[in-house]
Amino acid sequence: MNILGIETSCDETSAAVLKNGRVASNIISSQLIHKAYGGVVPELASREHERLIVSIVDRAVNEANIQKNDLDIIAATAGPGLIGAVMVGLCFAQGLAYALKKPLVPVNHIEAHIFSGFIQEDPEHQAPEDNFISLTVSGGHTMLCVVDNDLHYRVIGRTIDDAAGEAFDKTGKMLGLDYPAGPLIDKLSKEGNADFHTFPRALTAQSRTSKSYRDNFDFSFSGLKTSVLNYINNHEPEFIEQHLPDIAASIQEAIISVLVEKTVAAALKYNIGAISVAGGVSANSGLRHKMETSCAKHGIRLFVPKAVYSTDNAAMIATLASLKLSRGLVKPNNYDVAPFASF
Ligand code: KG4
Ligand code: ZN
Repeated sequence: MNILGIETSCDETSAAVLKNGRVASNIISSQLIHKAYGGVVPELASREHERLIVSIVDRAVNEANIQKNDLDIIAATAGPGLIGAVMVGLCFAQGLAYALKKPLVPVNHIEAHIFSGFIQEDPEHQAPEDNFISLTVSGGHTMLCVVDNDLHYRVIGRTIDDAAGEAFDKTGKMLGLDYPAGPLIDKLSKEGNADFHTFPRALTAQSRTSKSYRDNFDFSFSGLKTSVLNYINNHEPEFIEQHLPDIAASIQEAIISVLVEKTVAAALKYNIGAISVAGGVSANSGLRHKMETSCAKHGIRLFVPKAVYSTDNAAMIATLASLKLSRGLVKPNNYDVAPFASF
């Protein structure tokens, strides 16, 4: 079975081919055009996808050593995402499926992230049959779910304001870092002292509010943004410059400590022995390390995607389509587009 996956929900144009559940190609083109604007410009993203989609799909098919006619299923992201960007990939997939007379499977982008820890070059590696806790942390989403073996998931927490990736990107921008600042903060943090300054950790059991947030699995990062802005405004530019790695490490610590604390607390509360972390922020080395340490301490199995599958990619789109088809959970050709997650 050959499945073509197409991903265009934000600023990565990606196509991948899965041969019998195994990744045979995964081509990703990241749009650098947005750097000058400090964030993704939706209209420019759509145009770039349109410019690149044909060649990226051709490369994915060629690299997998097949012809387009050998494809059995076309899977494409149908949302959530920038609606124009989603439309480019989905309409292309629709046209291709029509021309090749092959079924089209629409895929929810966030759902695909959730299962990206199970993408393998090794076909023996399957998604776990048991329940697991999923933390999805990207530029637009921060979400905790309980996932069961029918691939159903129940959202138990989400951000009430900014996403974790947005917190990295926006505080990084305040420090003068390029977009996306997440990977740069990660790099700087390696040379910095995470205890240099304590930035706020919202909605945690220790947060300074009258209410106990012990069983609250929602997240909030907008207060951190304000706190970083005030911190920068209250110090000389030379001081900020000199302590950039320490400030970056302190910001990173404030974000990842909340992510780890809440995810592990959810696993303990729901008595679930496995955690999967996915989305762009799961590439963060500090988050991986802290989550590994905490999971090891509590005897929890941890699944984190390879770095290339952490950020947006089409292999995860094809993988979810494959997983759902193999479990009889999807009917091809029944779809719509959506800018928001319909959880
Ligand atoms: O999943 P993704 O590629 O796209 C969205 O669907 O949003 O996630 C992109 C986000 C950006 O906010 C980026 O700064 C963040 O993931 N990111 C990181 C790292 N690599 C990517 N954040 C922290 N540390 C990283 N190493
Ligand atoms: Zn994503």
